[in-house]
Amino acid sequence: MGKTIIISNRLPVQLQISNGKINAVPSVGGLATGMKSVHSGGESLWIGWSGLTDEETPHELDQNIDDALKEHGCAKVSLNAQEVEGFYFGFSNRTIWPLFHYFMEYSEFELDFWNTYKAVNQKFADAIIEKSNDDDTIWVHDYQLMLVPQMVREKRPKTSIGFFLHIPFPSYEIFRTLPWRREVLEGLLGSDLIGFHTYDYERHFLSSVRRILGLEVSFNDIFMDNRVIKVDSFPMGIDYRKFKNAALDHDKNQKSDLQERLDSHKASAPDTKLILSIDRLDYSKGIAKRINAFEYFLNKYPEYKEKVRLIILAVPSRSNVPQYQLLKREVDELVGRINGEISTVNWTPIWYFYRSLGFESLIDLYTTSDIAWLTPLRDGMNLVAKEYIATRTDKTGVLILSEMAGSAYEMNEALLINPNNFEQQADTLKRAINMPEEEQMARNTFLQNRLERYNVEVWANEFMKALKQKSSVVRNTFVA
Ligand code: ADP
Ligand code: F6P
Repeated sequence: MGKTIIISNRLPVQLQISNGKINAVPSVGGLATGMKSVHSGGESLWIGWSGLTDEETPHELDQNIDDALKEHGCAKVSLNAQEVEGFYFGFSNRTIWPLFHYFMEYSEFELDFWNTYKAVNQKFADAIIEKSNDDDTIWVHDYQLMLVPQMVREKRPKTSIGFFLHIPFPSYEIFRTLPWRREVLEGLLGSDLIGFHTYDYERHFLSSVRRILGLEVSFNDIFMDNRVIKVDSFPMGIDYRKFKNAALDHDKNQKSDLQERLDSHKASAPDTKLILSIDRLDYSKGIAKRINAFEYFLNKYPEYKEKVRLIILAVPSRSNVPQYQLLKREVDELVGRINGEISTVNWTPIWYFYRSLGFESLIDLYTTSDIAWLTPLRDGMNLVAKEYIATRTDKTGVLILSEMAGSAYEMNEALLINPNNFEQQADTLKRAINMPEEEQMARNTFLQNRLERYNVEVWANEFMKALKQKSSVVRNTFVA
């Protein structure tokens, strides 16, 4: 039996070099945090970019880098600065990311970006071909690598190839504006199985395949030449036990500095509710709108001044992309203005942290906050919503979640909001602040049961099971 090869742009660890020493730090983001649990449990090889460009990598450390990655079951694809610029910051994050999140006006259609994207996808495909055999199963992840399945298929026609998209697939009307729409679809169709987080993304994809490529589609099967490609939705779960156990241990362990600070805040203002938001600093997450909505809430219900505090934890992300730099400035200014205008001697309405935090600190924040308020304008899934619920071991806590997040489809017991509707958000915040504990517990019981049942392991197993079934069906057809 062959092995499983996971392939994604970002590996579960990012390498940093300081004073000639290599340091591996955990990656942030749904793909890395979710797949890490799957990878650590099984016999798989994970191929991806180390996070360092060739120019940042001293030649003499090459072997040490390979060894450091090997310890984590990983192998690297090397990229130079120009490739990272065109492929990662360029086509992936200035063309596809905004387009697939319905920010059409941010999407740049640059031929140079596209050419570099193709060349780098070929590099990833070559790495797979070099490191795999025919009987291995290849699982390609996300929008950075949409051409890889077809590139691998050309060299390995019999290998099982699965692809999972971690971001939304937009409606045909949006997707068709992409100059390279045919090539992207054909790249994906090198797979045997293509997975999405939700049925809607799946539907949008099938509609694009039908209308752009003119292929026959029946239910969720696509017929292409002598192949049948299966498309399905697999909503990604989290490592539920890991978050639940961390929250249970949290009370037994020595308190962190952050927890001390949170506790002292709670002790000095026992009636104040802590409202938490955690995201990468990304315009798709609706951070600036959320801050505006918070100000709106405080104006509409001034009786909550000094009674609530919004904690915004934003992790730096894609900071070479101009839109992210603009957003950083916008959020800094908004937080500064609102805190400057409405703070009192005893109260700062917004605590804003712009940094990545360790796992323990995330748990401190999840377990201490009364409300999690997540307002993406568009989000493939949003695992933070699931992580917050998993850590609420006493079942209290209120989740306010945007309808535009993929996770909202499975989290009906959360308070679902439209992030563009400030009136509704102000009223929902009020409702969350005043929600009786019995209601919080009833809602969270349903949510937790579902998250525990459909955890990340089940998600990965279901995808792999469907891929194996699919491959055996195709092989049997050939034999007949
Ligand atoms: P995305 O994949 O778009 O970043 P998700 O909500 O699906 O969004 O996943 C984000 C992941 O990154 C979660 O697992 C979360 O715990 C982690 N994360 C988010 N913000 C931080 C932070 N400031 N520090 C450390 N980890 C973070
Ligand atoms: O979940 C979508 C995603 O793009 C993942 O592919 C990625 O792990 C995460 O967001 C973080 O983005 P990046 O890899 O660009 O830091």
